Amino acid sequence: MPTPSITISRPQTGTGNSGLSSSSEAASLARKYPVIDAIRSGRAHDSAVHEAMQGLDPVLDVAGFRLWYGKAQALHNVSLSVPRGKVTALIGPSGCGKSTLIRSVNRLNDLIDGVRVEGEMSLAGESVYGASVDVIDLRKRVGMVFQKPNPFPMTIFENVVYRLRIDGERRRSFLADACERALRSAALWDEVKDRLKDSALGLSGGQQQRLCIARAVVADPELLLLDEPCSALDPVATLRIEELIHEISNRYSVLIVTHNMQQAARVSDYTAFMYLGRLVEYGPTSALFQTPRLLETEDYVSGRFG
Ligand SMILES: Nc1ncnc2c1ncn2[C@@H]1O[C@H](COP(=O)(O)OP(=O)(O)OP(=O)(O)O)[C@@H](O)[C@H]1O
Ligand SMILES: [Mg+2]
Repeated sequence: MPTPSITISRPQTGTGNSGLSSSSEAASLARKYPVIDAIRSGRAHDSAVHEAMQGLDPVLDVAGFRLWYGKAQALHNVSLSVPRGKVTALIGPSGCGKSTLIRSVNRLNDLIDGVRVEGEMSLAGESVYGASVDVIDLRKRVGMVFQKPNPFPMTIFENVVYRLRIDGERRRSFLADACERALRSAALWDEVKDRLKDSALGLSGGQQQRLCIARAVVADPELLLLDEPCSALDPVATLRIEELIHEISNRYSVLIVTHNMQQAARVSDYTAFMYLGRLVEYGPTSALFQTPRLLETEDYVSGRFG
């Protein structure tokens, strides 16, 4: 239960009406949001994981996962299973560890000095951090798309088949088929089929992002990670990407970070709400948005908190 006298500092980022002008307001906020209060004051709390999450076939299993950047702990005991063949959204205020968590799946954080992890993570039943894991192989099993489109300075065709080329694939017809399939998956084929030899840098931002999705799915990844894929795009391009996510969700397992609550509600089957490096609530998206277990979640998804 909350400690009424605790002092809570204002969240570092984000908006909302949680600014505090007195310790009594802090105490009343602590009573209102006991889970957030426990997290902020370093006390143990259980994540509210809905029963509907039990027994699903997981593509990614995260168990007691912790991560430190040097001395600063960014993830605290995160446990969640990401269902196979579904879209799972990660939401939470800026700095709560969403990108850190998804970058941990393909071990991109390994490239940062001073990163240390504890706990377990497995992709399709195989350990991600085990001593014998080949990180290059692991990264081949995971596709990733970032906030800003980052096409390589080469042709559209070469961008799409890049993954296959570095695996040594040379057969022209195989590459051409794979390129067409990936571009169709990314809903870009009709727009670029006559200019595959043009530079990818000449595409619009929204086209570039769909190209990055095509590049990420060309080798049929077991999991597609999308870190705020629409945040640099206009509403029309955003809608295209959302339709595309919906369409590919019957072929791929997708884990998407978004700050846009409507987007999470529209595109995902499951939603995980994180706060200060912890998993707060996790369940089917409809339940998380309409009948969440915690007032914290209800107020976050409706923009009243965070
Ligand atoms: N390379 C890094 N070195 C040190 N600390 C980092 C690094 N990357 C992230 N952090 C810290 O880890 C915490 C989680 O950051 P992260 O980028 O995962 O948050 P996020 O939820 O993705 O935020 P946003 O919504 O703003 O993208 C933050 O406190 C951040 O400052
Ligand atoms: Mg981020």
